[in-house]
Amino acid sequence: MVELEKEKIYRSYYTKSSPIVSYMVQKLSIESGVRVFEPCAGDGVFIDALNSKIPNLSIDIFELNPEAVSLLKEKYKSHSNITEREEDTLTNEELFLFSKAGGVYDRIIANPPYGGWQDHDRRKILKKFYPGLYVKETYTLFLYRCIQLLRDKGILVFIIPDTFLNLHMHTTLREYLLTNTKVKEITLFPSSFFPGVNFGYSNLSIITLERCFNKNECLRNDFKVITGFKNVEELTNIEKGLRKNLQLFIFSQKNTYENLDHALFITENPRVTHLINNVGKRIGDIAACVTGFYSGSDKNYLRPISPKIRNAKKYKVVNKDLISKDYIWWKNILNGIKSPKCFIPIVKGGGVKYFKPDNWHMDWSIKAVKNYKRDKKARFQNSEYYFKYGIGVPMVSSNQISASIIENKLFDQSIVGIFSYDKKWTSYLLALFNSPTCNELIRTINPTANNPANYIKKIPFVLPRNKELKIIDTLVAGIIHSIKQEGTYDKQKEGVLNDLIKKIYKL
Ligand SMILES: C[S@@+](CC[C@H](N)C(=O)[O-])C[C@H]1O[C@@H](n2cnc3c(N)ncnc32)[C@H](O)[C@@H]1O
Repeated sequence: MVELEKEKIYRSYYTKSSPIVSYMVQKLSIESGVRVFEPCAGDGVFIDALNSKIPNLSIDIFELNPEAVSLLKEKYKSHSNITEREEDTLTNEELFLFSKAGGVYDRIIANPPYGGWQDHDRRKILKKFYPGLYVKETYTLFLYRCIQLLRDKGILVFIIPDTFLNLHMHTTLREYLLTNTKVKEITLFPSSFFPGVNFGYSNLSIITLERCFNKNECLRNDFKVITGFKNVEELTNIEKGLRKNLQLFIFSQKNTYENLDHALFITENPRVTHLINNVGKRIGDIAACVTGFYSGSDKNYLRPISPKIRNAKKYKVVNKDLISKDYIWWKNILNGIKSPKCFIPIVKGGGVKYFKPDNWHMDWSIKAVKNYKRDKKARFQNSEYYFKYGIGVPMVSSNQISASIIENKLFDQSIVGIFSYDKKWTSYLLALFNSPTCNELIRTINPTANNPANYIKKIPFVLPRNKELKIIDTLVAGIIHSIKQEGTYDKQKEGVLNDLIKKIYKL
């Protein structure tokens, strides 16, 4: 197998961090005589730590990579208490029997593979074995499987991305977790704490849980979530950290179970959670939230207005004589423009608030549009919203979510276009999506840096009073006017808008 393929399948990121290993082993609360499972052992970093604490534990090791298994066999050949097997933890038959029997292990510890690639045949098999679970990303399957392998009161400690706590695709797993285990503690920290890893999209978490066969008992449980870590060493002295920078949240498992999609909403402000769970209307009720267009080959079709525009270097600059000024009046605009002046403005990503200048243009000739509709790589999606009046929210925002107006333009796939069914909300939505209030809501609903349409739809929509709406409309028009006419951004008006939104949302 070539190295790249191996990397994709095994995801062999070994836990070369003694603070992480020692925190995880401590949370596992091992006792002499317990039966332990390591479902994806790598080079055995957890086994070594466990063995050095209590030498007579009975430990079963599974590992898929034959090379790693040979090394493990060699390493533990004199340890009769350890058995190493070359097995696929997710499909192994014997493990299914163990789960049916109500679990056999007292302790399970793992750093399962994440972000690995599953080909289509394997996905089919996994779908069959794990109905209702999301099989493209296997770390959650490892978690589910290992919970089922625990005896009642057995303890599990896993280090995994934190996406299972909020993302829609993991709703079924959350429901299972909250009703079949008592979560003890979740620590959340940046992925860069793990040597050799730094995925921008989410944090890492270490979850400690206890298997519990009684659903009501599970729901009566409270659990700790600890955040605010500045360095990995803090994992080994949480008590001390809590007196300094660490933040401790206590959640009721029942309340978490009753949250929208059973998601964990981590916020210091209980009103945020209350609003997310109980609001009458959401953005998805008052507006269409849709992803935009992709040409399939931006190099061929997309043109910046100048080579100085950010990220414009690899593109040809647009010929200004070929920019269409009247494209919105063309009757069949969704079939392209039958004129040499066939370049039209497109709103792209990037965290610019309220108004983006027409820095980018797309070839909208009849020929190009035919290609967009034919090319498999292109995305001629949600075209009923092209050239409409709405707002655009970039799909990725690292700090503050932002929005800019889409004035009858094309918008690309890095943007979620929000088109309110009643146009009277457009300026209000613009102010809302540029406000810290909205940022707090979306980051509580989805703490990753992404804002896909399905999460935007869940943001609460609170009706402003008519008087407030009028003031907001005037302020937003003022901000856009000064950007367009004077090239200046009116910070003062922005501040007033942010205060108003906060007041309307009562947060
Ligand atoms: C992220 S590494 C962790 C290794 C070790 N537990 C550690 O923390 O250093 C994941 C390991 O899982 C193994 N693995 C991947 N898929 C597996 C599967 N389906 N069954 C068992 N092991 C698997 C890989 O070969 C790799 O050694």
